[in-house]
Amino acid sequence: MSSPTQKPVLIIGGSGVVGSLAAQTLRRFHPELPITIGGRDVARAEAVARGLGHADAVRVDLSRADLGLPEGRGYSAVVLFVKDHTLNALRFAQAQGIPHLGISTGLFEVAPEVAYFMNAPQRSAVLLGTSWLVGAATLPALHFAREFKTLDSIAMGAVLDEQDIGGPAASADLERAASAAPNALILEDGKWRWVGGAAGERRFLDGDGNEHVGQAYSLTDPVSLAAETKARAIRLDAVVGLSAGRRKGGAYSVETLFELEGTLHDGTPARVRYEMSHAQGQAPVTAVGVAVSVERLLGLAGGAPVAPGLYLPNVLIKPTYLMRRLEEAGVRTRRFS
Ligand SMILES: NC(=O)c1ccc[n+]([C@@H]2O[C@H](COP(=O)([O-])OP(=O)(O)OC[C@H]3O[C@@H](n4cnc5c(N)ncnc54)[C@H](OP(=O)(O)O)[C@@H]3O)[C@@H](O)[C@H]2O)c1
Repeated sequence: MSSPTQKPVLIIGGSGVVGSLAAQTLRRFHPELPITIGGRDVARAEAVARGLGHADAVRVDLSRADLGLPEGRGYSAVVLFVKDHTLNALRFAQAQGIPHLGISTGLFEVAPEVAYFMNAPQRSAVLLGTSWLVGAATLPALHFAREFKTLDSIAMGAVLDEQDIGGPAASADLERAASAAPNALILEDGKWRWVGGAAGERRFLDGDGNEHVGQAYSLTDPVSLAAETKARAIRLDAVVGLSAGRRKGGAYSVETLFELEGTLHDGTPARVRYEMSHAQGQAPVTAVGVAVSVERLLGLAGGAPVAPGLYLPNVLIKPTYLMRRLEEAGVRTRRFS
């Protein structure tokens, strides 16, 4: 529940493909929560705000320390749907003492945000949201891991349809990652390794039995899962290609595959596979991850607002809660053994 005095959540990029869906999802969760949609094209932001209700729009200029925002206007959080190469949005959140959530900073480029946080650790809750679909692989993996007494390995495979990349901001992120960090970080035999090219490939099956050749991809999921579990091998492999939905002649979908190996609670060694999929692709899944993150940061779903600190989604969000929200939003989970 939002309080009547709650300041608006500033969603920079809330007029884009994913940001607009995230704003709608947050609105569905919290009908009264004030929201401000920010972007360069204010007319586009206004159109989204009108559709939401209890919302307005502002022009945002990321080159300015004050983001070009109207003076005296307070916000309760900053959520960012574009890579902010200036980090002015983070500085703005720190100056205001409010949470910051970004979902566009790759693992390879996270150091500046970490340093800004370390310089002012008491100012803001800074949530690094660049995990696959903002928690929709890490948290389910932790949920599935409960079957095991001990885990040896976690391998995740992400199938993103080539028609489901998103808008220009998402394409820019993929291009930057491909040129700046062609190798990806995986945990193998208990050691972190950078792998690329053929060494970074992994074949995996989707839930319909289609084989994919994924390439190791550097998001924060493996580091989150390594911190949470004792698995000695953890990786995320992504393939941009043909999703299960289009293979069947329909619209694009998104699939995330999970393979967990270890020892079950009864002492039996086991390898368990899961698939989570959404028939409308990545955006509605990402939108749930963002909306759940924002409500957690602000304490809107029970519990206190999150204290200043540097966070990954697994530190803040309960796997069962995200699973429930994802399933309500149309994510289908299948288990194979
Ligand atoms: N972590 C994940 O799993 C995950 C999943 C999906 C997407 N993402 C990321 O989410 C971001 C959004 O993706 P998308 O597909 O929604 O992209 P998009 O449709 O291009 O949306 C970008 C949004 O940002 C705004 N914007 C762009 N440049 C801006 C600037 N300089 N200053 C202020 N606002 C600016 C755009 O509005 P204006 O053009 O009006 O400024 C638009 O609202 C991407 O960075 C993508 O990589 C992450």
